[in-house]
Amino acid sequence: ISNIGVYTSGGDAPGMNAAIRAVVKTALYYKLEVTGIRLGYEGMISGDMHTMTLKSVGNIIHRGGTVLKTARSEEFRTDEGKQKAYRQLKRFGIDALVAIGGDGTFTGANKFGDMFGIPVIGIPATIDNDLKGTDFTIGYDTALNTVLKSVDQIRDTAESHDRLFIVEVMGRESGMIAMRAGIAAGAEAVMLPEIKNNLEPLFARLEDSRHHKSSKILIVSEGQEIGGGFEIGRIIKEKFPQYDTRVSVLGHMQRGGHPSCTDRVLASRFGVAAVEGLMEGRTQEMVGVRHHDIVYVPLHEAILQPSELDMNMLKIIDLLS
Ligand code: F6P
Repeated sequence: ISNIGVYTSGGDAPGMNAAIRAVVKTALYYKLEVTGIRLGYEGMISGDMHTMTLKSVGNIIHRGGTVLKTARSEEFRTDEGKQKAYRQLKRFGIDALVAIGGDGTFTGANKFGDMFGIPVIGIPATIDNDLKGTDFTIGYDTALNTVLKSVDQIRDTAESHDRLFIVEVMGRESGMIAMRAGIAAGAEAVMLPEIKNNLEPLFARLEDSRHHKSSKILIVSEGQEIGGGFEIGRIIKEKFPQYDTRVSVLGHMQRGGHPSCTDRVLASRFGVAAVEGLMEGRTQEMVGVRHHDIVYVPLHEAILQPSELDMNMLKIIDLLS
């Protein structure tokens, strides 16, 4: 390989810039060229690409978002879209790819690899932490810290007013953010999309703890069958009119901000491993971290849904909430 195309795609995640930096610096260290593809697959189709230098990645390790920008591309889902993209890659002399993103990004990258045989390595970056084969994805730790800071602040006002707060967090169909945030925030209860029929146990818990503590925090993941935070708030208000209930949806603030130390280090390790993996002849694999070690996982395994929740963590929620 001689020229690596790097892009970010799907929802952004704090630490993507640190990953881009690591890919560019590693490639240049090994005397390879690197081309930055803007706006993910959209830029690949339209030819929005430029050569990257050390200067292009100066002063970005600490910045949230992605300097390459990101998008979700409908056109790339079609065979014609992929063919257009491949023609652009050839035009720019790109002969290998590093895809930074989540399951949608990797689904596209895997199909693209199948169709054209171009080597591609994925770097997992999503606040949802919902990929199989890696313990952590870039952005998850930072998002958790953002959630925690917000819940701590909500707890102050909840306590002053003796209120029950329902805090909705992101995660799409995965309860990973809610699970860890719930433990770390000391929430009274956590609702995860992976656990079905969880209203009755919640009612029992609220019934039980009615006389114990004046304020309560309930962390609800988006993606519940019964609805989001507001819907669950409506149900609780109806069932427990004696609670002074409020709902707070944290939303996209969870995707922004400076990446944490953990995310910057993870992104740097992934970036180096992605380039070295391509140099070793690897393709259609995702770099991941398992028990602190770097691993390579076939892309088709990484995107298998649903990702698994750690049963030990669920037990901790039950024990401590
Ligand atoms: O995948 C990351 C994520 O933030 C999910 O948690 C959330 O469901 C989704 O993206 C929101 O997407 P959008 O930015 O398109 O509203």
